[in-house]
Amino acid sequence: MDKFVITGGKPLRGKVRISGAKNAALAILCASMMAGEEVVLENIPDISDVRVMIEIIKHMGARVTSNGDASVRIIAPSRAAADPPCHLVKKLRASNLLLGPLLARYGYACISLPGGCNIGVRPMDLHFKGLAGLGAQIDFNGGFAIGKTPRRLKGARIYLDFPSVGATENIMMAACLAEGQTVLENVAKEPEIVDLANFLNCLGAKVRGAGTDIIKIEGVPELGGCVRYAVIPDRIEAGTFMVAAAITRGSLVLENVIPLHVEPICAKLREVGVNVVENGDMLTVEAADASLRPVDIKTLPYPGFPTDMQSQMMAMLATVEGTSVIIENIFENRFQVADELKRMGARVKVEGRMAVVEGVPALYGTRVKATDLRAGAALVIAGLAARGDTEVYNARYIDRGYHRLEEKLRRLGAEVARP
Ligand code: UD1
Repeated sequence: MDKFVITGGKPLRGKVRISGAKNAALAILCASMMAGEEVVLENIPDISDVRVMIEIIKHMGARVTSNGDASVRIIAPSRAAADPPCHLVKKLRASNLLLGPLLARYGYACISLPGGCNIGVRPMDLHFKGLAGLGAQIDFNGGFAIGKTPRRLKGARIYLDFPSVGATENIMMAACLAEGQTVLENVAKEPEIVDLANFLNCLGAKVRGAGTDIIKIEGVPELGGCVRYAVIPDRIEAGTFMVAAAITRGSLVLENVIPLHVEPICAKLREVGVNVVENGDMLTVEAADASLRPVDIKTLPYPGFPTDMQSQMMAMLATVEGTSVIIENIFENRFQVADELKRMGARVKVEGRMAVVEGVPALYGTRVKATDLRAGAALVIAGLAARGDTEVYNARYIDRGYHRLEEKLRRLGAEVARP
């Protein structure tokens, strides 16, 4: 069945290993289509979004073998079928990240305007503007974006009106094979951008400045392969477990974490009253005896507080006495989880981009449904703390981004079933 059933009330305790980052893995799989030789990727999470992306690049002619140990071997074709299959592309918004690599390497791409989570309008104007700035010609017809580059792309100076993660990635990838220098200004600084740039450089690209506001790329005629590249740990999966520890007043040790990447989440949890201690690539999150306080949150591009953690924090704050205010600045439709949490007894008022959360003494288990990936995670977290049984429907959303969430939670003492 497409649901999680959670019997709440058990504090989480123990150690959990964080998987590779979904968003880094998806971008790096797309970039692998530009590799001239074999690529071996490690720490690739076994989640449904990654499986769909692998299917897409296979359809386009890539030879992909999974070794079953989170590593994947890819040989991109020298000539690709540049029309990724529509039914798969529609399942996965990140498939829009194929546009840049396909245009740059094969000179042609036809992408069905992609699907993904239902969290806002999510236009692609910045992607198209940037790729057009490099010389691509992009037309739209019947829900498809059709890109052509009669000659090799040409380096250019491109300013993004907003530091979009996907637009930064698409343009950065395409610029690697363009002629001459590209300067990208006002770019996204997320850790996944740095990971993608490191991977591209591993293939022989010349990308500098990833992680800052300006990225400079010297185009090269072709890229090579990469004997081994390990994707960074998933900061949102880590944050989700940290919040799960907090809401159940438990204590967890997270392994395989880059503490710098989760700092915006750690800072907010410390403000709430959770004890978070870094130790190399481990984090200890201790909330057993904590008395938690309400906080205000504003989602912002990195290094601000991540929008992908907003729903989980809302679930947790719903159990913290006092008033918390959440402002969502990235996606216009990301408070849908509030209605589901209300069904569990939460007191949340949404007004445009603002949600006001009044903490209640207890949440109660009932039937709720995930409306997107992170809303699903938030409802599971709420269920862990709720009295009685919570059934979270549309579990397929959760499987898009979490590797066997139910198993990981069970090992930490939670009562979670996937009947
Ligand atoms: C990526 C992440 C997603 C995360 C988001 C913000 C992947 C696969 N997904 O999504 O998990 O929540 O970053 O951190 O990496 N925008 C435009 N025009 C564009 C592009 C974006 O107006 O051309 C707007 C979007 O509508 C949104 C905002 O910019 O309001 C941020 O979007 P963006 O940073 O592009 O997010 P994604 O790359 O889609």
